[in-house]
Amino acid sequence: MTVALVTGAAGGIGRATCLELAKQGWKIAACDLRGAEETVASLPDGDAISVAFDVRDVKATWTAYERIESELGPVGAVVANAGVVDRLEYAATMDPEAWRAELEVNLTGAFLSLQPALAGMKERGAGRVVAVSSIAATDGLGGQVAYSAAKAGLLGMVRTLALEMAPSGVTVNAVLPGMIGTDKVEAMPQEVKDRATARVPMRRFATTDEVAAVIAFLCSDAASYITGAWLPVDGGIGLSNLTLGRKD
Ligand SMILES: NC(=O)c1ccc[n+]([C@@H]2O[C@H](COP(=O)([O-])OP(=O)(O)OC[C@H]3O[C@@H](n4cnc5c(N)ncnc54)[C@H](O)[C@@H]3O)[C@@H](O)[C@H]2O)c1
Repeated sequence: MTVALVTGAAGGIGRATCLELAKQGWKIAACDLRGAEETVASLPDGDAISVAFDVRDVKATWTAYERIESELGPVGAVVANAGVVDRLEYAATMDPEAWRAELEVNLTGAFLSLQPALAGMKERGAGRVVAVSSIAATDGLGGQVAYSAAKAGLLGMVRTLALEMAPSGVTVNAVLPGMIGTDKVEAMPQEVKDRATARVPMRRFATTDEVAAVIAFLCSDAASYITGAWLPVDGGIGLSNLTLGRKD
């Protein structure tokens, strides 16, 4: 049984990912700013721990890895999922400090949270890394320029890590969620949700389980020859809605 470290595990996609990976036989290090006790409480006893650290904090991250490896064993998969998703500011008037702050969590934090796993994975000749990006990386997202830039940065990171790690059999991939029905998203005003749903070709948001299933697949043996991939989980929202045909 190998260990999967999931950041941002206290809720949303991270929590669903912990549950799915546990079902598939992984031990779980459920990591979040203040830990992820509730997530761990819903997992089998003894095979999961809650770990508190800030992905921006290098020392705390390395210390967390030491604890995880001594309590559960070597980290065989990292899901870099922690992120700040809800800051809205238009580029022209954005405080440059807000730009820096968002890149620090969503891009630098993702790298810092997976970096301690790389040497061990290389040495053991096995490992899985999945970064949770967003369709904002490829399509843009009005009012979220720093978020989109950070999520696009993750794609470059994934491609480079995939190249560096491929000779050791370690795979590195990204998932790009579209509109996911997390508690936060579901709490948005109905009118905003209706407008967003109308833009999704599948006319609904995904469940967190639908994203978790794809992440778990990329962590599984079945995905052993997939690396450097960017996998949208977006109900087709990244497709062009252009049509030259009849209105219906
Ligand atoms: N919900 C969506 O529609 C959607 C769409 C595309 C991408 N995503 C991405 O999915 C990931 C998970 O998002 P979610 O929707 O489940 O949101 P969420 O807010 O429920 O989860 C994010 C988690 O990250 C943690 N976190 C934030 N900053 C941290 C830090 N500095 N150190 C450690 N942990 C930190 C938060 O505490 C939180 O538990 C994010 O990377 C987000 O950008 C979400």
